[in-house]
Amino acid sequence: MGHYSLVILAAGKGTRMKSKKQKVLHEIAGKSMIDHLLDSVRPLPLEEKIMIVGYQGDQLRAKFKDTQVTFALQKNQLGTGHALLRAKELLTSTGGSLLILPSDVPLVRTEVLSQFVHFHENNEFKVSILSTEFDAPTGYGRVIRDNSGKVLKIVEEKDAKAHEKDIQEINTGIYCFENDDLLWNFLELLSPENEQGEFYLTEVISIYKEKGFDIGVLTIEEGKNLKGINTRQELAEAEGIFRQRKVKELMESGVTVTDPATTYIDEDTRIGMDTIILPNTHIKGKTTVGEDCLIGPQSFLADSTVESSTVIRYSVVEKSRIRSDCQVGPFSHLRPGADIGPRVSVGNFVEVKKSRLKEGTKANHLTYIGDSQIGRKVNVGAGTITCNFDGKRKHKTHIDQGSFIGSNASLVAPIKIGKNTVVGAGSTLTKDVPDRALAVARQRQVNIKNWKRRGETRDDG
Ligand code: UD1
Ligand code: MG
Repeated sequence: MGHYSLVILAAGKGTRMKSKKQKVLHEIAGKSMIDHLLDSVRPLPLEEKIMIVGYQGDQLRAKFKDTQVTFALQKNQLGTGHALLRAKELLTSTGGSLLILPSDVPLVRTEVLSQFVHFHENNEFKVSILSTEFDAPTGYGRVIRDNSGKVLKIVEEKDAKAHEKDIQEINTGIYCFENDDLLWNFLELLSPENEQGEFYLTEVISIYKEKGFDIGVLTIEEGKNLKGINTRQELAEAEGIFRQRKVKELMESGVTVTDPATTYIDEDTRIGMDTIILPNTHIKGKTTVGEDCLIGPQSFLADSTVESSTVIRYSVVEKSRIRSDCQVGPFSHLRPGADIGPRVSVGNFVEVKKSRLKEGTKANHLTYIGDSQIGRKVNVGAGTITCNFDGKRKHKTHIDQGSFIGSNASLVAPIKIGKNTVVGAGSTLTKDVPDRALAVARQRQVNIKNWKRRGETRDDG
């Protein structure tokens, strides 16, 4: 591939999105549109990456401030042709070629861009356009060809005549241009005399044609991958497309997904072979799941690491680590900083935060464990609460290996409970417990014999 510079047009107002957020910062499958687009171009050997920003441009500048992307400002959004002209000063020299992308085509695949660039190069066109056919082309620029199939121009939806609207071949908004004086001079010739009063980049195509240059056109079948995202409806559609793509990829790599339609897996997650994902499961962010796990139904995992052979049912797991052979759920909540396993089980209505539960420990019912270090093979009885918060500060709880915490114990932190201890059920502990001790902190039971309730006539049956 020759010398290519990339120009992304991202200054537009995104009016149809109706948002305070720059259009391309809206997320699809856990990642912004613009990040998806940059991921697609990353493997291409591009000399420089220029982004044209304008409306809500500060949001984009802030996002990419420490990257190799350079910015050009389009102060007033006068159209895509006007936007491209802003790149002129930034390009280090003329020569080489330009790959132009609108910022709102997040689904485009690297292979398609690479094929397009090679097409442009091999055929030595001055300009090439990438087109595709849509059954419902409404909203897109249509590609108008002459009888011999040569491209004459692109007509925008709003300017199209009735018979032009019937054309299904659309302009994807992706172009290659030779970076020479022709381009920059032709861009100066654009006129805003159209329905939208804008300087359309699409008009430059007809200018090339009129000046005697053939337009390269690569038409490919890519399903919906070349869609532009302009509205919230299209955003949701794109989400669906990404979801299907990711699930397909996972299935091809040996993961079972029983119901792809209700499985929501972000792009940057990794899942190991022979893991089974049951319906209504969300796996978000940078989550890694190992081999032979069972996840779901109804589980939500975000930015977490799950090692192999672990089962997570009906649970929420955020920024946590679950080592191998654990059982989580039903209805557990692992909050940030939970690190459990291997062979740990946390069960019904158990919440764990910023705590380490070591090998073989069990907390199976109705428990809160926060800011705690729990050793190996500890049995945390039903209803155990680590009282970690005094209203101002958080305090730590330590429970050493082999201890048995009876049901409904309140452990008031800071507190250290030694090895192999037993804590009596219903105790409220405020003091440390030495190794091998039994700690009981509750009132002794009193039985008053033959007790009669007021006004009661006894019936002993
Ligand atoms: C554009 C094309 C249309 C094509 C469609 C493909 C034009 C005139 N139309 O329409 O032929 O079928 O994309 O998705 O080019 N932008 C600027 N400055 C502006 C205006 C827009 O930088 O003044 C940027 C936007 O941020 C966006 C891109 O250019 O990333 C395209 O603009 P958009 O408004 O989405 O154009 P479409 O109506 O989708
Ligand atoms: Mg668009």
